[in-house]
Amino acid sequence: MQMKPILKWAGGKSRLMPRLRPFLPAADCLVEPFVGGASVFLATDYPRYVLADINPDLINFYQAVVDSPESVIQAALPLFRHANTSVDYFRYRTNFAQWRATRGIKRAAVFLYLNRHGYNGLCRYNLRGEFNIPYEHYKKPYFPAAEIRLFAEKARDTHIRFVCLPFEETLALHVDEHYAVYTDPSYFPPEDRDGFTGYYITPLRKCALPSFAARTLSWRKSRLTTSWKR
Ligand SMILES: C[S@@+](CC[C@H](N)C(=O)[O-])C[C@H]1O[C@@H](n2cnc3c(N)ncnc32)[C@H](O)[C@@H]1O
Repeated sequence: MQMKPILKWAGGKSRLMPRLRPFLPAADCLVEPFVGGASVFLATDYPRYVLADINPDLINFYQAVVDSPESVIQAALPLFRHANTSVDYFRYRTNFAQWRATRGIKRAAVFLYLNRHGYNGLCRYNLRGEFNIPYEHYKKPYFPAAEIRLFAEKARDTHIRFVCLPFEETLALHVDEHYAVYTDPSYFPPEDRDGFTGYYITPLRKCALPSFAARTLSWRKSRLTTSWKR
């Protein structure tokens, strides 16, 4: 049975995996420069992975889950049990914005809480880097304890490496010969208006495309599969 992502994530590929999997080449290691909800990691069987994203809250979350899954569960569970109101949500959201410099278990637990109690699981920040998704009243948000434990187990078995970098740097620094690479960039907005691209402060825009293509095509023996929405 396919493992489910811990987080809700816009553009997650869980449902597409049966169609996507045949396009992913065999390799010793899969590199994902846009890991998001990690559904490709969860639905494949590479011996090793490098999972990267530009969003430091996301990478901090995954690192905390792998280092200490039970601590993340213990820190997040009370929030799910006792803080499902808009007042609580906005209090935690404000605290989260104020502790921007902090990392670790507490921030990971609040990130999970915001993800499961905010509108549609979206993850978006304003230009000051403050998470700004509104509250959504779900009757009983799902607490993904089983998913946290399974993720941590698989990450340990596959010698996972997490990287918080823009994709160009992940590609330049973390791809070796014979690695497979799967890229799933955020959607680009139409030319004349902003769209939903702001997973982390600076939206990925079409001007990123030429350097993206140049780097990906210039690799020697690594193999690239990409999802692309026109
Ligand atoms: C469509 S989501 C990936 C979804 C993922 N494949 C899944 O199945 O859940 C795109 C991800 O790209 C990340 N991202 C956006 N701009 C980026 C950039 N310039 N460099 C690296 N990651 C970026 C976002 O934070 C987001 O997590």
